[in-house]
Amino acid sequence: MTSVHEQDVVPPGRGLLPDAARIFVAGHRGLVGSALARRLTADGHEVITRGRERLDLRDAARTAAFLRDTRPDAVVLAAAKVGGILANSTYPVEFLEDNLRIQLSVLAGAHAAGVPRLLFLGSSCIYPKLAPQPITEEALLTGPLEPTNEPYALAKIAGIAQVRAYRRQHGAAWISAMPTNLYGPGDNFDLETSHVLPALIRRFHEAERAGADEVLLWGTGTPRREFLHVDDLADACALLLRRYDDDGPVNVGCGEDLTIRELAELVGEVTAYGGRIAFDPSKPDGTPRKLLDITRLATLGWRPKVALREGIASVYQDWLASGRD
Ligand SMILES: NC(=O)c1ccc[n+]([C@@H]2O[C@H](COP(=O)([O-])OP(=O)(O)OC[C@H]3O[C@@H](n4cnc5c(N)ncnc54)[C@H](OP(=O)(O)O)[C@@H]3O)[C@@H](O)[C@H]2O)c1
Repeated sequence: MTSVHEQDVVPPGRGLLPDAARIFVAGHRGLVGSALARRLTADGHEVITRGRERLDLRDAARTAAFLRDTRPDAVVLAAAKVGGILANSTYPVEFLEDNLRIQLSVLAGAHAAGVPRLLFLGSSCIYPKLAPQPITEEALLTGPLEPTNEPYALAKIAGIAQVRAYRRQHGAAWISAMPTNLYGPGDNFDLETSHVLPALIRRFHEAERAGADEVLLWGTGTPRREFLHVDDLADACALLLRRYDDDGPVNVGCGEDLTIRELAELVGEVTAYGGRIAFDPSKPDGTPRKLLDITRLATLGWRPKVALREGIASVYQDWLASGRD
């Protein structure tokens, strides 16, 4: 039994992740996985990776064998089939089945290999469409989902339930995080499939280069959204791996939102676009507000570090330097 003295001197959560742990980051080439790999390496851990060409995580037998052979101290599951509205509505089968398969392979394989620590990544988009704002973790499964990404959300909710089930049935110290909209280096700038922030950066950059006097954006510009730099997410995940061991998922956001118009103005400034910003109110707006309540994370002492303007500027410079513009 832990003595009172030990409880006093041992920081909460100490021992959940050893120093210089061997951590398998699944999806290490993605926006989230690459940030986690950078951060965990910088923290002195040994990050283990396997590209999809060597290990398709939908393959349960091969994933189990890999985990049995490598026996990591921890697994971070940042591999998923991810996409925007168009991809979700075109390939609902893949969004449901690929994600279920990846989760089943990785979690069952990690359990069979005796992996003591696992972090599963959910998403703010799996909360009910009309959840009260700001969205607390308790809102999960309290109402209908956003229809456009329902298959994806159902798969992710199953992942959260799976983590909880391993905790309850096997006492596993496995946890889930629920990130808000993320952006960062290596983001997807393809206008067909990208999220709103890289899409805006590209639109304004191209307008600036073309000397356009107007950029026309969909909707009214009034919906409010929250954005977190992926390095801040990695920082929060590193903290959760060290310190958090509870049933409920943990929201990871910056705690502040802004309107799409304000976001567009910010991106316009960063990209030195000098023209007008117009909105087409005949096009759909989506949910009026999406902001996570980050009280649970804040009680662990966490605060975001990257201000939105600086974050957007660094992502813009990174994209220009990559020559993909
Ligand atoms: N981006 C966001 O704004 C955001 C917000 C909230 C939550 N999240 C969550 O964070 C996680 C990662 O998202 P992300 O934005 O980093 O996605 P991403 O950039 O598309 O990266 C996903 C990664 O998963 C890998 N992957 C997909 N299917 C695989 C398979 N069958 N076998 C092996 N690897 C596979 C991909 O490999 P390849 O490189 O080979 O394609 C890629 O490296 C997801 O669970 C997502 O729900 C993201």
